[in-house]
Amino acid sequence: MTKKIVKIFKNTQLLAQEAAEIFVKLSIQAIKQRGIFTVVLSGGNTPRVLFETLASSLFSSRVEWPKVHFFWGDERLVPPNDPNSNYNLAKETLLAPLHIPEENIFRILGEKVGSEAAANYRSVLKQYFKSNEFPCFDLVYLGLGIDGHTASLFPDTKAIQETNLAVVENYIPKLDSFRVTLTFPVFNNARNVVFLVSGSEKAKVVASVLEEKDSLEKLPSQLIKPVEGTLTWMLDSTAAQYVKV
Ligand code: 6PG
Repeated sequence: MTKKIVKIFKNTQLLAQEAAEIFVKLSIQAIKQRGIFTVVLSGGNTPRVLFETLASSLFSSRVEWPKVHFFWGDERLVPPNDPNSNYNLAKETLLAPLHIPEENIFRILGEKVGSEAAANYRSVLKQYFKSNEFPCFDLVYLGLGIDGHTASLFPDTKAIQETNLAVVENYIPKLDSFRVTLTFPVFNNARNVVFLVSGSEKAKVVASVLEEKDSLEKLPSQLIKPVEGTLTWMLDSTAAQYVKV
C-alpha cells in the first residue's frame, strides 16, 4: 500500500522552495548511487514557480546539472517553441537559464502526430534505460487538473487503461485534441513521485482525490500509487482548504 505524504504550504513560493529542496536532495542521492539523476517534469502552469526557483541563485549552485537528465510526463501536440508546449515552459524558465546541454534533454516531439511522437518516445526511453521494462525515474513531478487528471491521463479516456505501453497518444474529447502521455505503469515504477498543486480552484478535486474511494475512470490521479517509490502531495493552503488533516 503506497504511503501518501501530504505537505501543506502557506503559499506557492514556499511550496516551490520545498519542491526544489526535494529535487536537490534526490539529485545528490541518485548521482551518488547511479551517477545520474533522471527527472520527469510536469506540464501546465503550476511548475513555472518551481522551475524559476531551481534556476535561481538560491538553488542553481546546489545541483550537479551536467548529471541531470530531463524527461516529460506528457506533451501537447504543438511545436517545441509553442507557448502551450510543456517543453517550452521548462526551456524558458529552467533549461535555458541553466544552459542545460541538449544531450541531457529528452523531450516528447510535440511537432509530430501523436502516434509518431509516442512511438518515438517509447524508443527513446528503451534506448536510454537499455531495457524493455518500464523505465524507473528517480523523480516524477505531476500536476492535478480540476477534473482529476494528471499528466494527460484524463477521466474516461483510453490511456488510463494502458498497462503495456510506457507512452501512448491519448485523445481528450473535452479538449478535442490528442496528447502524448506516460502511462500509469511508468509513474508507479518511479522512485519518487511528487504532486504539485496550488490554487483554490483545485481545492475540491484535491479533497476528492485524497479522501474519496478510488475511481480510475473519474479521478485517474488516485491511481498514482508508486509500487516501491514514495508519493508526496505538496499543496498550497488554498488548494488544501478542504483536506482533512
Ligand atoms: C498538462 C499537464 C497537466 C497539468 C494539469 C494542471 O500538460 O497540462 O501535464 O496534467 O499538470 O492540467 O495544470 P495547471 O498546473 O496549469 O493547473
